[in-house]
Amino acid sequence: MLRRSIQCLLVFLIISESCSGLAKENSSRNFDKLDQYRQACLTKMSASSSDRVNGLPEENPTNRSAQAGRLEELKQQEAELSRKLAAIRMEKLAELQSKPLTIGVIGFGRFGQFIARTFAKHGNIVVTSRSDYTDIADEMGVTYVPLSDPDAFLDQDLDVIILAVSILSFEGTIKSLAPSLQKYIQKNNRGPLLVDVLSVKEHPREVLLQHLPEACDILCSHPMFGPDSGKNGWHGLTYVYEKTRVDKVVFHPDSSLSVVDSNTFVDSSGAYHSVHESSESHVEAIDRIERFLSIWEEEGCRMVPMSCQAHDAYAANSQFITHLMGRILGAQGLQMTPIDTKGFESVLTLVKSTTADSFDLFYGLYKYNQNSVKTIQQLKAAMEDVEENLRRMEQDELQKQLQQESRIS
Ligand SMILES: NC(=O)c1ccc[n+]([C@@H]2O[C@H](COP(=O)([O-])OP(=O)(O)OC[C@H]3O[C@@H](n4cnc5c(N)ncnc54)[C@H](OP(=O)(O)O)[C@@H]3O)[C@@H](O)[C@H]2O)c1
Repeated sequence: MLRRSIQCLLVFLIISESCSGLAKENSSRNFDKLDQYRQACLTKMSASSSDRVNGLPEENPTNRSAQAGRLEELKQQEAELSRKLAAIRMEKLAELQSKPLTIGVIGFGRFGQFIARTFAKHGNIVVTSRSDYTDIADEMGVTYVPLSDPDAFLDQDLDVIILAVSILSFEGTIKSLAPSLQKYIQKNNRGPLLVDVLSVKEHPREVLLQHLPEACDILCSHPMFGPDSGKNGWHGLTYVYEKTRVDKVVFHPDSSLSVVDSNTFVDSSGAYHSVHESSESHVEAIDRIERFLSIWEEEGCRMVPMSCQAHDAYAANSQFITHLMGRILGAQGLQMTPIDTKGFESVLTLVKSTTADSFDLFYGLYKYNQNSVKTIQQLKAAMEDVEENLRRMEQDELQKQLQQESRIS
C-alpha cells in the first residue's frame, strides 16, 4: 500500500510542477506520454507568444521594459497558484488515502463469499445477490442489500464494485445495473471502479466496455484460485489483471499510444482517445485502482498484469483443460480403493476440486472462451493418438508371436 501511495504522490508531483526530470526517471508509458504532452504544450505556448511579439508594432524601450515587468509579475503569480494547487491536491489525496475503500460485491455465491471474507479485513464491504444472504452477511460483519434494489446498493457510496456473478449471468446483470449507475453518476458526478473476477476475460471486457457509462473505470481481473486452493490464505497465488479503462481512456496493452495534439491520443488500432493525465480525475482514478490492487498485493498474491486476450489463450490450455479432465474423470465414477497410489489420490483430488465448482462455471469456461473448442479437439486427438500407439504395439507383439510360431512349426 505504501509503495503504491508513494507512486501516486509522485504522479502528483509530476503533474503539478515542471515534470520532465521525474518523467525521465519513470520509464512507464504514461509518464513518457505525459512528458510528450507537456513538451507539445510548451512548444505551442512559446510559438504563440513569439507570434504575438512578432505581430506587435514597434514600441519604445520604456514601454517594452514595463511590459516585461508585468509579464514577470504574472509568471510569478502563476507559479505561486500552481504551487498552492499542488499542495491542495496532495492534501486531498492523502485525505482520500486515509479512508478505507468501500467495496461492493455483486454475486454473493461461493466465490463472492470467499473474497468478501478477506476484503472485509481491508475495507467496508456491502454485498448484493439474487438470493437472500442476510444471515451469512451478518455472520461476516458485512452489509447485505438485495439485488432487486440496485439503487439502494449504489447509495452505499461505493468506491469499487466487484462483479462476482456467474459467467452466464454476467451480461444480463450488467445490463440491468447500467441504468441505476447512470442515475447515480448524474446525481453524484462521479462513477465507481468496476472490477470483474470472471474466469474468462475477453467476454466481460467486451460487455463492460459496451454497457457501462463512460464515467466508470474498469479493471478486468481473474484470481487464479478459489475457495479450495485459497482456503489457507492467498500467499503466492496468482492474480491476473488488465487496467481496461481509466478516466475514460481505454488501454490497449499491446499498443503504443502516440500524441496527436495536446488533448488527443491515438492508439495503434487508429482509435482516438481524449487523455487527461494532468487532470485531477485521472490521478484519482489511478489512485483508486492502485489502492484496490494493493489489497491483493498485501494478501501476498503474485500480481500478473496481462491482456484479457492473452489470459484466455493461456487459460484454455491450463484452467479449462484441468476442469475438463476433472469432469471427464468424475463422470467415470472413480472411487477410493484400499490400494490407492499417490498418483490416483491426486486424480481424486482433481475430481473433487473441479466438481465442487458449479456446472454453470464449467459451461461458462467452455462457452465464453473462444479457445476452448480447440482444446477439446486437441484432447480428443491426443486420446486417439495414445490409443493408436497402444493398438500398434499390441499388433506388433502379435505379429512377432505369429512369426515365431510359424518358424517353430
Ligand atoms: N469458484 C472459483 O474458484 C472461482 C475462481 C475465480 C473466479 N471465479 C468467478 O467468480 C464468479 C462466481 O463463481 P462461483 O464459484 O460463485 O459460481 P458461479 O456458479 O459461477 O456463480 C454463482 C454466482 O452467480 C450468481 N448468479 C447466478 N445466476 C444469476 C442470475 N441469473 N442473476 C444474477 N446472479 C446470478 C449467484 O447468485 P445467487 O447465489 O444469489 O443465486 C452467485 O452469486 C464466476 O464468474 C467465476 O468465473 C470463480
